[in-house]
Amino acid sequence: MNILVVGGGGREHALCWALAKSPNCSKLYCAPGNAGIAEVAECVEVSVEDVEGLVSFAKDNAIELVIVGPEAPLVLGLVDALTAEGIKAFGPSAAAAELEGSKAFMKDLFAKYNIPTAAYGNFTDYDEAVAYVEQQGAPIVIKASGLAAGKGVILAQTEAEAVAALDQMMNQKSFGEAGDEVVVEEFLDGEEASFFALVDGETALPLISAQDHKAAYDGDKGPNTGGMGAYSPAPVVTTELAQEIMETIIQPTIDGMAAEGCPYKGVLFAGLMIKDGKPKTLEFNVRFGDPECQVLMARLDSDLVEALDAAATGRLNEIELAWRDEAAMVVVMAAAGYPGAYDKGSEIKNLEQANAIDGVTVFHAGTTAEDSKILASGGRVLGVTALGSDVAEAQSKAYQAVDAIDWKEGFCRRDIGWRAIARNK
Ligand code: AMP
Ligand code: GLY
Repeated sequence: MNILVVGGGGREHALCWALAKSPNCSKLYCAPGNAGIAEVAECVEVSVEDVEGLVSFAKDNAIELVIVGPEAPLVLGLVDALTAEGIKAFGPSAAAAELEGSKAFMKDLFAKYNIPTAAYGNFTDYDEAVAYVEQQGAPIVIKASGLAAGKGVILAQTEAEAVAALDQMMNQKSFGEAGDEVVVEEFLDGEEASFFALVDGETALPLISAQDHKAAYDGDKGPNTGGMGAYSPAPVVTTELAQEIMETIIQPTIDGMAAEGCPYKGVLFAGLMIKDGKPKTLEFNVRFGDPECQVLMARLDSDLVEALDAAATGRLNEIELAWRDEAAMVVVMAAAGYPGAYDKGSEIKNLEQANAIDGVTVFHAGTTAEDSKILASGGRVLGVTALGSDVAEAQSKAYQAVDAIDWKEGFCRRDIGWRAIARNK
């Protein structure tokens, strides 16, 4: 099968790496890809938001399956445009991608189908939002409804902070149109976990659990990022809890989306808060997590082409997935300054030494190749991924690999996996 992957981050490197191993993959392209992806796929210079360009590339190159990594092209309708041309695609339609594209839509779906989540109100009127904050009190959470690159969520400790956030979003338009509507919701405490399921419109096939580390610095301090590291399995998600998540969150969402006339296909990613063994949904994403995808792919022991093709064509009931027993960890190496301003163009050396460590794969995110050099070209730059007999061993191998890499302009957290390791002590 000729396959096109859309995206150019660590998630897409992990997907390409897993797809390339399949006997069902004859030719693999990635748009736009990165320096690491170029080792397993042919990278093509089409941007992820160029829907027309991607569709015409797929037509011209006899692509049989398109796998969409990030949310932006999904929300823009890439899957609809491909489907209209008779090209199979893994990912939701624009209507179904509203689950991530509009938090207000998502929250209303939760309410209608009794899916556990934080109490909330949706507002397009600033004064009404302020009145709701005053009525509920702090701490309280303010979210821009639209896509805001992971930055549109303010955890306000005081009412004044909440009102300032509302002013920023609704009056000052700090997130543009994404803040025209806001969700104001109850602050939940507990432990977060990421839960993934492949979905074909009707059937949902659970993947394994993972835990991300959103804060930039050790001890979960500092600003939120796209994710500084992840591991799988997440011990907070027991087998019983996974079943409860499928029954009370994932399947009702799939059924609800079908009933609303926008059946969901692709991967459904639930961001959960777990307290006293009970899950509540913080958010849905309509794509794989990054960097969670890197640990999922490291542990997958089945043919990814077959599974994603089955999700795209309504045959998931035929698929069973096998996973390695080992735990996996990914440590993200980011450019100094990330998630704020950072420099580009520094050279990264000794990647071969890191990759040579048993069980280690270094996935690239923001990298480019120039002559024979690998240069940093983004905020999150590498995802150093390792398998181990348990999370502690995966962690020690991942940091051994991090230490083998020579990149002075980069940094990483040194405590990825601390919750799982503390739990097992
Ligand atoms: P979201 O993009 O909605 O997942 O929010 C980003 C992050 O903000 C989450 O991963 C949580 O760490 C935090 N967060 C979001 N909503 C809440 C909530 N209702 N209570 C506590 N923390 C939250
Ligand atoms: N790592 C969290 C996300 O991809 O949204």
